Amino acid sequence: MSVIILGIESSCDDTSAAIIQDGVRLSNVIANQEVHSEYGGVVPELASRAHQKNILPVIDVALNKAGVKPSDIDAIGYTRGPGLMGSLLVGASFAKGLSMGWGVPLIEVNHMQAHILSHFIREPEDTSALPSFPFLCLTVSGGHTQIVRVDDYFSMTVVGETRDDAAGEAFDKIAKIMGLSYPGGPEIDRLAQAGDPGFFELPISKMPGYDFSFSGLKTAFLYRLRSELEKDPGFLDCHRADLAASVQATIVQVLLRQLKAVALDTGIRHVALAGGVSANSGLRSALERLALQEGWKVFIPAFEYCTDNAAMVAITAYYSFLQRAYDTTYRPPQARMPL
Ligand code: KG4
Ligand code: ZN
Repeated sequence: MSVIILGIESSCDDTSAAIIQDGVRLSNVIANQEVHSEYGGVVPELASRAHQKNILPVIDVALNKAGVKPSDIDAIGYTRGPGLMGSLLVGASFAKGLSMGWGVPLIEVNHMQAHILSHFIREPEDTSALPSFPFLCLTVSGGHTQIVRVDDYFSMTVVGETRDDAAGEAFDKIAKIMGLSYPGGPEIDRLAQAGDPGFFELPISKMPGYDFSFSGLKTAFLYRLRSELEKDPGFLDCHRADLAASVQATIVQVLLRQLKAVALDTGIRHVALAGGVSANSGLRSALERLALQEGWKVFIPAFEYCTDNAAMVAITAYYSFLQRAYDTTYRPPQARMPL
């Protein structure tokens, strides 16, 4: 039997709809919201309004690109949480309305599980290996930093996480201090290409167990930069690329040190990356080097599936559908939702 799923994602500032057939992506449409860049961060009320404007055309384009009619859809998956309440409400209400109108089951999806299960999305004609259980996933986004032990599609355990800022948040806050636009992660990544990662020595936080902390890094960076600027007001302009490279190298080092510790202690050698920060070129190449050194098999998502997208929601709903692991009762969104 062929299974066709419509996925809807609206947890933060990207409105996305995707169609997946038997685990293969037929379409994945993402509308980014430009409106936030002038505010230096996502403005929740503006995000919900933009979702309302975008959601219908985005779903329409996803269906057309996939060549699928509403009557072909077997189930609708939507992000129930975690995320911004207003943004989640738009996607969830729309999904609920469509499921009632089309008479198809509604499947709730946990956004963090979806980031991890993005590794199971297949492209048409794609025969590359999928991760096998158990594997470790370093999920690094604007709101989360977690090392997750994945024993099965819906059996996941957080073994380490941030005690304060998320890795993406650290990139964004430091970028803001440097006067870069939001989101700052991609800006730092771009600048870092031409910088010296050893230029600015920053503290490497040491947390107990496998946890992370990034707030000290941001504060240390701010104070160091202030004192350099007192000595030389042109310091930032002269060394933007070096600062970006140093920040990126430090964040990558903190992330990979803990990941390596978990891999050594558990003996798990299949390691994956997920979430918006997995688009970072420094993190991707450092993980590949480490994997070579440690003999790991590493899974790095295609850029399209690093940041928020509905294909990951659709694939998660697909596995729920196959396992009949869903309850079609509509439950309202949840801003905070454990894995
Ligand atoms: O997963 P995501 O799209 O949304 C959340 O669920 O948070 O992640 C967004 C985060 C932002 O903090 C953004 O700065 C970061 O991912 N990001 C990057 C890069 N691309 C996106 N950080 C570093 N380097 C990148 N290339
Ligand atoms: Zn996300």
